[in-house]
This record gives sequence, C-alpha cells and structure tokens, in this order.
Amino acid sequence: MAKKTATLTLNIDDETKCMDLPIYSGTVGPDVIDVGSLLSEGLFTYDPGFMATSACRSSITYIDGGKGTLMHRGYPIEQLAQKSSFVELCYLLLFGELPDGQQYTHFESRIRNHTMVHDQINNFFKGFRRDAHPMSILCGVVGGLAAFYHDHMDITVKEDREISAIRLIAKMPTIAAMSYKYNIGQPFNYPRNDLSYSENFLYMMFSNPCEEYKLNPVCAKAMDRIFMLHADHEQNASTSTVRMAGSTGANPFACISAGIAALWGPAHGGANEAVLKMLDEIGDASEENIQHFIDRAKDKNDPYRLMGFGHRVYSSFDPRARVMKETCDEVLTELGMADEPQLKIAKRLEQIALEDDYFIERKLYPNVDFYSGIILKAMGIPTNMFTVIFAVSRTVGWISHWHEMLSDSYKLGRPRQLYVGSSQRDYRSKK
Ligand code: CMC
Repeated sequence: MAKKTATLTLNIDDETKCMDLPIYSGTVGPDVIDVGSLLSEGLFTYDPGFMATSACRSSITYIDGGKGTLMHRGYPIEQLAQKSSFVELCYLLLFGELPDGQQYTHFESRIRNHTMVHDQINNFFKGFRRDAHPMSILCGVVGGLAAFYHDHMDITVKEDREISAIRLIAKMPTIAAMSYKYNIGQPFNYPRNDLSYSENFLYMMFSNPCEEYKLNPVCAKAMDRIFMLHADHEQNASTSTVRMAGSTGANPFACISAGIAALWGPAHGGANEAVLKMLDEIGDASEENIQHFIDRAKDKNDPYRLMGFGHRVYSSFDPRARVMKETCDEVLTELGMADEPQLKIAKRLEQIALEDDYFIERKLYPNVDFYSGIILKAMGIPTNMFTVIFAVSRTVGWISHWHEMLSDSYKLGRPRQLYVGSSQRDYRSKK
C-alpha cells in the first residue's frame, strides 16, 4: 500500500539508527506515517488527545478543518443538508453510495418497521427516578437492548451487523422520546409508521392522548436537518469510543451505549445544552453585559469558556454552523420568535467574537452547537433533551464506523502510556 517512505533518524544515547517508515496516502488529506515498527526498537509515540494520530483508515467522512470542509462519502454536507434527507444520508453512511429509488424504498420501510421497542423495555424506565437525566436513561436502555436480540448479534455476520444498525437507527427516536415522556410524567407514544423519521420523532415527543398534535412542516424539516448535520464527524471522541469498544468484540448495543456516554460531556455533545445554559446565564442582551462574558472567556485566570465556540478540527469555520444558523432563522421566523432575546444575544456574541483578536488568533468560531440549541428550544424541546437528540443523529455515524471496522481488518484498540509513577519499591506496611 505504501509507495513513499520517511526516513527517521534516531539519535539515542550516542547511538544513531535510521529507520524507513512507510507513508500512506489517502484519497484527499494529509499523508500518514506508519510508526508501528518503532515498537521493535522498544519505543512508543506520545500524543495525548491523539492530536496527530490516525487510529484507523476510513472511507465514510472527510474533514478539512482548515478549509471548513465536511464531506460524507465525498458529498459536501451543505449539498446533503439542502437536497437530501436524514434517512437517505443513513443509507449513504452505512452502505457507501446514494440509494436508487428501489433501494431507498426498501431501506426506509425497514427503518419504519423497526421503530417500536419490545414492550418489556417499558419496565426499564420504571427503574429510573422521574428526574433522571434523559442521557442516563438513554445509556442504560440502549445498552439493555442487547438482551433482546440474541438471535442476530453475531458481529462476524454482515447481515446481523446490518439488522443491528437498522434496529438502532429506528429505535433511537422512540427511546429518546420515551425518556422525555418519562421525565414529564406523560404516557409513552407508540411510533406512527405513516410519518417520516423526523415527523415521527416530533409526534412521539409532543403528542398526548388529550389533544391532537399538529405537525409543523418547517419544524419537521428543521428536525431532519439537525439530524443530518450531526450524523457523522469522523473519528471524534464518541465515535472513537464506539470503535474502541467494538474492537473488543462487544455487541453493537453495548458499543453504542459507550458512544452515548462519551457524547454526554460538555466538550462534545453536551455543548448544545451548555450553550443554552450560557445564554440563560447571560440573560440580558445589553452591550456591557455581553462584553462582561466575552471578557471572562478571555481571562486566563477564569475557567469560563464561550460554549458553542471553538472546535478541535475546524480552524476556519464549521460548515455545519452556517446551515444551522440559516435553519435557526427559518424556524424562529415561522414560529414568530425572531425577536427572542436569546437569539439576539447569540448573534451579538458571534459578531463580537468574530471581531475580537482573542477569538481570531485562536481561530474560535461558532460550531454546530451554537445555534442548534436555540432551534430546539424554539420547537419546545427542553434543554436536557438536546444531547439526546445529538445521540439520535450520531447513532448512524457510530454504527457505520463500527460496521466498517468489522468489515475490514482491525486490531484490538490498546494505546500505550508514558509511565510516571513510582519505580519498583518493596512493601512495608504504614499501619
Ligand atoms: N472560549 C474561550 N476560549 C477558548 C474556547 C472557548 N470556547 N475554546 C478554546 N479556547 C481557547 C483556550 O483557552 C486556549 O487558549 P490559550 O491558547 O490561550 O491557552 C485555546 O483557545 C485553545 O484551546 P484548547 O482547549 O487547547 O482547544 P481544543 O482543540 O482542545 O478544544 C474545544 C476544542 C471544542 C473542546 C474547545 O474549543 C471548547 O471547550 N469549546 C466549548 C465547548 C464546545 O462548544 N464544544 C462543542 C464542540 S462541537 C460539537 C462536537 O463536535 O462535539
């Protein structure tokens, strides 16, 4: 596979050694150097946060953070968000190509026919406190799904992997909506298979037995777009977690549950919830007040950060944030909320930050989560459900990476460490 090599000269303890390391080229993007043979010299590389490490090869998603490019299977996210749908994107991510008419109909009907969860799952919910964070419910219930599908969980069989993927994509909105209904003490809604994926999710969230729920097409479209914009993002923390768990041979439901747990943190999927909390905390849209929070974010002695700003990979702009901002304007206009103070604060924060040297020098731009929370809130979705919605969308990305890994040759994920603890010492009791 490697056509090029890099020569590494090691100068250790006055001994010089040269090693030829293979270089691999991807379709686009930077080359990677295979450092595996360093092990034969008793050396490991050191790269906390995996800033310069490719842990796998993948053909699902490509990001060029410098140019603000995000492509799924070669298609730019902007085009997909404008012209495709979440279900079509799921097919693309899972199988590598856009579906033709027949493939789409077959795939969509498979998803529709797996939306319901086993009735015994309802009992899981009763074990949670009413005020449990829906992410904790999601982690538990998704992991628990493994108990229901012993028949099709052979991870070495492609058809079993596919049916697990379909089950997960189809059931995530149902479990997500159930976790919300449980929180607010309303009865669960069964999925309605006459509705589209996104409509069905909104229906299960907001319908109740006492009154008819009227679906708003602008909100349903926005929901679909939010699902699309979060569907995959190559080797981010939660996807890497899913791959790591998958590399042990764990079942798909356990792996996705691990991904959900990793997504929960505020530096990752928890950021959309954190943005809304930040906007609430800022509260007043006056210039002095907004400047006060900008100053706090810039202060080295204050751990405060502007949530929804910055990204490990994007250094020019987050292409998802642009589409999200457009969608935000559409939804708030449709709902007659264009003058919402939170939207005003968000826009002003963005403007100040984009003109401020601190943010310019550090290449800190609004990320996908900066506007998504405002849209979700306007649609009536409570803050603690934001990361749950991210997890619903990202499930297809996680399961596509898991499926890709298992379809290729792979190794058990097992990083090494730089040990900085005590050297060997003899036991002497201190009691
Ligand atoms: N507000 C203020 N300063 C910031 C921010 C921020 N949001 N983000 C980074 N910085 C500063 C940071 O203090 C550091 O400054 P200095 O060089 O003077 O020490 C510099 O920028 C680099 O920061 P870093 O923490 O080394 O960068 P990172 O790549 O490790 O962090 C990040 C990326 C996303 C964790 C971080 O930007 C952050 O905490 N942002 C807020 C949380 C957020 O919005 N996360 C959602 C990410 S998008 C959704 C997803 O893909 O999961």
